[in-house]
Amino acid sequence: MKDAATQTIYLKDYQEPHHWVRDVHLTFRLAPRATRVLSKITFVPNVQNPGDLILDGEGLRLIAVAVNEAIVPYQVTDTHLVIKSGDLPTAPFTFEAEVEISPQTNTALEGLYMSPLNVEAPEEGERESQPGQNAMYCTQCEAEGFRKITYYPDRPDVMAPFSVRIESDMPVMLSNGNPGAFGPGFAEWHDPWPKPSYLFALVAGNLINHPGGFTTKSGKQVELNIWVRPGDEGKCAFGMQALKDSMAWDERVYGREYDLDIFNIVAVDDFNMGAMENKGLNVFNSSCVLASKETSTDANFERIEGIIAHEYFHNWTGNRITCRDWFQLCLKEGLTVYRDQMFSGDMRSHAVKRIEEVLTLRARQFREDNGPLAHPVRPESFVEINNFYTATVYEKGAEIIGMLKRIVGDEAYKKSCDLYFERHDGQAVTIEDWLAAFADTTGRDLAQFKQWYSQAGTPRLSVEEDWQDGTFTLTFTQSTPATPGQSDKKPMVLPIAVGLIGPNGAEVVPTTVLEMTEATQSFSFEGLGARPTASILRDFSAPVVLEREMSAKTRAFLLAHDTDPFQKWEMGRMLAKDTLIAMIMDGTPPANAYLDAIKTVLTDDSLDPAFRALTLGLPSQDDLAQTLYDAGVTPDPDKIYAAREEVRRILAAHLREVLPALYVENDAGAFAPDAEGSGKRSLRLSALSLLTLSDGGATARALYKRADNMTEQAGALQALLSAGLGEDELADFAAQWQDDRLVMDKWFMMQVASAAPDQAADIAKSLTQHPDFTMKNPNRFRSVFGALAGNHAGFHASDGKAYALLADHLIALDALNPQTTARMSGAFETWKRYDADRQGMMRDQLERILATPTLSRDTTEMVTRILS
Ligand code: PHE
Ligand code: ZN
Repeated sequence: MKDAATQTIYLKDYQEPHHWVRDVHLTFRLAPRATRVLSKITFVPNVQNPGDLILDGEGLRLIAVAVNEAIVPYQVTDTHLVIKSGDLPTAPFTFEAEVEISPQTNTALEGLYMSPLNVEAPEEGERESQPGQNAMYCTQCEAEGFRKITYYPDRPDVMAPFSVRIESDMPVMLSNGNPGAFGPGFAEWHDPWPKPSYLFALVAGNLINHPGGFTTKSGKQVELNIWVRPGDEGKCAFGMQALKDSMAWDERVYGREYDLDIFNIVAVDDFNMGAMENKGLNVFNSSCVLASKETSTDANFERIEGIIAHEYFHNWTGNRITCRDWFQLCLKEGLTVYRDQMFSGDMRSHAVKRIEEVLTLRARQFREDNGPLAHPVRPESFVEINNFYTATVYEKGAEIIGMLKRIVGDEAYKKSCDLYFERHDGQAVTIEDWLAAFADTTGRDLAQFKQWYSQAGTPRLSVEEDWQDGTFTLTFTQSTPATPGQSDKKPMVLPIAVGLIGPNGAEVVPTTVLEMTEATQSFSFEGLGARPTASILRDFSAPVVLEREMSAKTRAFLLAHDTDPFQKWEMGRMLAKDTLIAMIMDGTPPANAYLDAIKTVLTDDSLDPAFRALTLGLPSQDDLAQTLYDAGVTPDPDKIYAAREEVRRILAAHLREVLPALYVENDAGAFAPDAEGSGKRSLRLSALSLLTLSDGGATARALYKRADNMTEQAGALQALLSAGLGEDELADFAAQWQDDRLVMDKWFMMQVASAAPDQAADIAKSLTQHPDFTMKNPNRFRSVFGALAGNHAGFHASDGKAYALLADHLIALDALNPQTTARMSGAFETWKRYDADRQGMMRDQLERILATPTLSRDTTEMVTRILS
């Protein structure tokens, strides 16, 4: 028999709960190792599905239970508290419980925990170790953390209003909803909007607020706050502006208004993910909200703006309308990612944003879809739901929304969303409900489209062209490779955005969306004067791999003439990829066609600097490895590394005359974290990175010294490190920033990320001995081991040292923090791409991890799937 802890849960088994919740009253008596949680919950028997009262609960010390203020028989296991239906009233009843929990030793960062943690045992005779000056209480309940706080039906379809009372001597005590009574030692909060338990939050600590305000379109005043630890209050202004922009955008674009008197954001240093959309009380990993020009890069600013928007947008897509069960996770995440992407595009540049989105989609989601962890956007089963907060659910989930919008059109999209909000406000719903709003609005049958939610794998799309008597015909063929548990794939609905360019470079047919539904399908364009060149999959209109035979000449032609910025970039990308692959395969040097095309784009002042920088960027080593593997070639990480370095040197030499000017002319002047400034800095730093290969590092050293912002300081250091230089600057950087946790994360990360292949594991290992390294802070752990896994040649060094080092640390981390361990084990997901030696070494490490006694359910599931 299977252990309950590793049981598989199936979508098809969904059943309504036996009881609904009418309201919840919680009292917290906070203490580091003995917090008392008193709950008073009104349950309403579900006449549709009568049965026992089943409450989730884990790691709770139960003090007392009562039903309607009387003693009742109940059963408690490690995971549940059950009261038999025969022992319960048939009418609504109150359930009361008191439990004790220990936030200070909660290293999993799920449920109620303290940041920073203090897991040292109290001294003998000491009753309770006191939290440090800066320690704060914090909760994380998604997906199933509330059950570590008290007994409750911890499932998203159970929605209820919450009243919370917090008792402690912390100066600031926050929970969801609107503030109620407060005084010395206590604070009360009431959240009138019914919500599932995963959106519950509580924060208490010595925090300082950066205040702000917003007036909603119907004239309601909302108090805004970003709460941080003393010392961080100077890093909140940018996040506050992003929040106001998000609120205005959601009103303007989706007609969605904020619905409470107050909106609080809290920054916490110890956090497993980026941020969390708890109702009215968003909790952020401090790396995703704190920003200043001295300590944050342009990429940080952009990410912070996007995440603030994302969490805020969840207020409607996730909170007011939530998921019936965790299989529907993409209902809130895919839609909310899509919304934050559109927001960022509006705030910055849609063209640049789209290219960045495709880069991450390919790097993370295509990688996942191509390996043993491939799963549908709506999975049909899971062991641990935490393992499904994936690129597939989030990023491919967002692509599905984009395709749907492209198919139905902007106006119908808006109408359908309005219908969805109107119909389902206050409900916990499914993908079927979401699609029904579209089907009902447009009269379309979306049955085939729905396969995007159930069929895993990245479709391959090939195309053939025909030209006859003024008619140009494109014949597309699609197929989706088998993925774990899914061998037969059906044709998908593919919106293929196409434009045609005439021989003189002028567009003869503007962007047209072809809706492909068959395995093979032809589309014709009539009445053309001359054979055109097709621009296919404009704006990356579907998340597919386009397999298209194209000469370098055609690519260069489209790179020069395509009106679609994504395709224009893509053509440069393909040229670069072909160049690198040829170099890897047999040392063929780059063709001048490629080098000149890049030079032309780089020096074209009519193009956005950010776009030019993106065009100069080479495909990653991981991307090249996958491309080789797809072509039936076993990737050799050393060769890939060497070829990429060689192409960088050749580019640097070929562009020698233009790099200094690019560097000088793209000085953005006074720092502003906007699209214009960041675009210039990114082109400038791309130029610097190549320039450093030929000038001995002089320019980079000078910039490092002079820089008044982190983008340029870190960019200069990075340029030096990737050229094998920068030792002094690295030491200087640590001396300057030793007291800034987030900047020191960069210091740890950069060294490992840019280490030479034969040194990466040793450098990572020595950094784990650094006094500032800690396994308990996920950001710090990720900055070393995320960087190691991302250093392709270093991770796959043939001595296998990096594999073993990562495995050692995953085993150690699993005992503290299963969620982050499981997530990081994805570093091994591509193991089957490589040669037998490397495969063997990776398999050995995965098996060693799996053989660890008491390995968590999270990591067990991940490693088992990776090995399968
Ligand atoms: N729901 C969060 C988001 O996407 C992510 C998250 C999941 C955070 C689980 C913490 C834990 O915005
Ligand atoms: Zn989200």
